[in-house]
Amino acid sequence: MSEPVVQFSRVSKQFGQLSVLRGIDLAIPKGQFLGLAGVNGAGKTTLVKCLLDFCDIDGGAIRIHGIDRRRPASRARLAFLPERFTPPYFLTGREFVRSMLRLARRPYEEDAVRAAFADLDLDPAALAKPVRAYSKGMTQKLGLAACFLSRREFYVLDEPMSGLDPKARARVKAILARLRGEGRTLLFTSHSLADIEEICDHMLLLHRGVFAFSGAPAELREHHGGTSLEEAFLNCIEVPYDG
Ligand SMILES: Nc1ncnc2c1ncn2[C@@H]1O[C@H](COP(=O)(O)OP(=O)(O)O)[C@@H](O)[C@H]1O
Ligand SMILES: [Mg+2]
Repeated sequence: MSEPVVQFSRVSKQFGQLSVLRGIDLAIPKGQFLGLAGVNGAGKTTLVKCLLDFCDIDGGAIRIHGIDRRRPASRARLAFLPERFTPPYFLTGREFVRSMLRLARRPYEEDAVRAAFADLDLDPAALAKPVRAYSKGMTQKLGLAACFLSRREFYVLDEPMSGLDPKARARVKAILARLRGEGRTLLFTSHSLADIEEICDHMLLLHRGVFAFSGAPAELREHHGGTSLEEAFLNCIEVPYDG
């Protein structure tokens, strides 16, 4: 087996008295599409921030492609979209994409950029507009377009569907299916179990600092009953389901 793309070894993270991650072990193999689920405040974003060295950890170790997360080289092969994506307000869409592509060491090709915008149902005319004039949905699409244009091996997307209308969500799913076919790797956080079931082959359910479930989304239903994935989720975290 090749080295995992991501490896967490007994990772813990606290905010004051609050233990958000309690000795987490995790390995994401190359080519896996992993959905990280959990209620609001479960620690999904914290796990992503620990992965990308945006915060310290209190115990354990994290490696990306075998490189310690504290070394910038560990992030050279990934693209990241944060939960609250806010591009610098003074840039146009084109300037933003150009600067992101420069960071990714990729050429700016107008046709490819326009195609990526159209793929996400974002009017290429927006390239000339300042991002401060973008709606929330347009801003999210801009961030996704920049990520996908970077052509990285590993995508870390924190709640990427937030603010997107149904058409755009369908477009993102189609793009992700294409990336999956190309053997790329995904870490996708969402509180939408339906999205995780549709997009991911493996699911982790973060609850009270540990993974209450790890397996294929369909297995959650098999193991925890319920007619919907939501019911199975609630059964798994032992919250009574009241309809
Ligand atoms: N910088 C911080 N300082 C203190 N508490 C934090 C900080 N960031 C997150 N938390 C707390 O950690 C918990 C997990 O938050 P978060 O990772 O954002 O959850 P999720 O992404 O699953 O909704 C929450 O209780 C949140 O309030
Ligand atoms: Mg979050």
